[in-house]
Amino acid sequence: MTESSANKLLNGDACHRTSNGRKSSKNGFVKNHCLFQQPQKYRRPRERKNQNVTHNPSLYKKPFAESFEETPLLVAVLTYMGYGILTIFGYLRDFLRHWNIEKCQVAREREEQKDFVPLYQDFENFYTRNLYMRIRDNWNRPICSVPGAKMDLVERVSHDYNWTFEHTGKVVKEVINMGSYNYLGFAENVGACADAAIESTKKYGVGVGSTRCELGNLDIHEEMEQLVARFLGVESSMAFGMGFATNSMNIPALTGKGCLILSDELNHASLVLGARLSASTIRVFKHNNMQSLEKLLRDAIVHGQPRTHRPWKKILIVVEGIYSMEGSIVRLPEVIALKKRYKAYLYLDEAHSIGALGPNGRGVVDYFGLDPKDVDIMMGTFTKSFGAAGGYIGGKKELIDYLRNHSHSALYATSMSPPVAQQIITSMKIIMGEDGTTLGADRLRQLSENTTYFRRKLREMGFIIYGNDDSPVVPMMLYMPAKIGAFGREMLKRNIGTVVVGFPATPIIESRARFCISAAHTREIVPGD
Ligand SMILES: Cc1ncc(COP(=O)(O)O)c(C=O)c1O
Repeated sequence: MTESSANKLLNGDACHRTSNGRKSSKNGFVKNHCLFQQPQKYRRPRERKNQNVTHNPSLYKKPFAESFEETPLLVAVLTYMGYGILTIFGYLRDFLRHWNIEKCQVAREREEQKDFVPLYQDFENFYTRNLYMRIRDNWNRPICSVPGAKMDLVERVSHDYNWTFEHTGKVVKEVINMGSYNYLGFAENVGACADAAIESTKKYGVGVGSTRCELGNLDIHEEMEQLVARFLGVESSMAFGMGFATNSMNIPALTGKGCLILSDELNHASLVLGARLSASTIRVFKHNNMQSLEKLLRDAIVHGQPRTHRPWKKILIVVEGIYSMEGSIVRLPEVIALKKRYKAYLYLDEAHSIGALGPNGRGVVDYFGLDPKDVDIMMGTFTKSFGAAGGYIGGKKELIDYLRNHSHSALYATSMSPPVAQQIITSMKIIMGEDGTTLGADRLRQLSENTTYFRRKLREMGFIIYGNDDSPVVPMMLYMPAKIGAFGREMLKRNIGTVVVGFPATPIIESRARFCISAAHTREIVPGD
């Protein structure tokens, strides 16, 4: 793809889903997120007027292709009908439970408390009781091996329609793992990382028993943070024991009353919780939609705070690198252009993209060839590509120094376990090639090849998949509620472990299976042409 073809952009607008009536290719697949010129059949019919900074193709150095086919009308109708039937049966069974014809397994208000205000709303439990319970066997399966390319599962059965489970004592061996976020295959119990983690356990033990600011600041933590800063290309970094807490505890340290958070509608729960805890005003923009973001930014500048119309103290845009339910990649060049134009700050959560994207595995900034300094707060986790645990924040030295003294997770949480820190150091050095091998580069190439191959194969087989062509998170649409459980079970019968997802984690008619591709997957696992 050349620069000149980039200039022939037709489809620079943001990520709307295609309408039901749009003509699609054989399997209904429509490319509607492509910033570079596509074959005629994939193009949008009309060029948009009023292109502005948010539609500037010159911001992208490489093709940006994402697809989100809107649910076909017939499938939508059948899916709603499926939920309708399940709801009718749910009411019927609730009726039978009420009259003790069917045994009621669900927790109920105690008889002596029946005049109290109910502790929980019975209706809210309806979905769990009558819909989720039917397919509960697809989740929380106990795994009894390293979650690598293959894994062992503890076999379990339910004799009461999934209310309780019993272990049979058998192990389901060598299940192909298509669900763990093991992008670079570092979830291992042998090899350089495991050896180094064992050595560090011998030296430091596992627990630290104190916070960073007291007696929990080990030399290995400082070494790790300097390495992380070097990896990200930022001045400084700080690591935390938990990725979720990195978001939920640091956002409140950065913004507060009188500040505005502009949050992507599909942001992770940890970002949402952090934003809520901060007491900032939160406004939500459509997923990866730059017009929607720009509108909010413009309104925020023009109108200021409600009632007083004073300017906002700070405006913080919060986005993720790869969205783990959609497989989409943030339109970072456009977000950065907007944040510069409107003088807002940018918080980028790279939980799924760090290690998994970019020629050097340095995430979405590396992927787009951008300057890390353009992102004010670089957040990420060590739980995915590094096969470890915890999270980090990277950025300017003043930012990190401030967080060390103001973040609850820095001041009040026990610091990271030393073998975990060692796993991060060793895997990161491998990715950076500082171990003197090409193992890191090989894994990055393998992940990229596996991703391209897997997405292409699914598409050729006629499945509807979501997301960016380069995203190792591959959502495959199932739509109907009955398919959620059936797909998970049938895959397991074929010795393949997948994650299936439905409402409320997805919109009601967009249930899906989510595959996570790993560099550890071989052609034997994902058969070649
Ligand atoms: C975008 C994002 N941020 C944060 C987290 C939380 O990270 P952790 O699981 O390491 O606590 C996740 C978890 O999957 C995530 O997807």
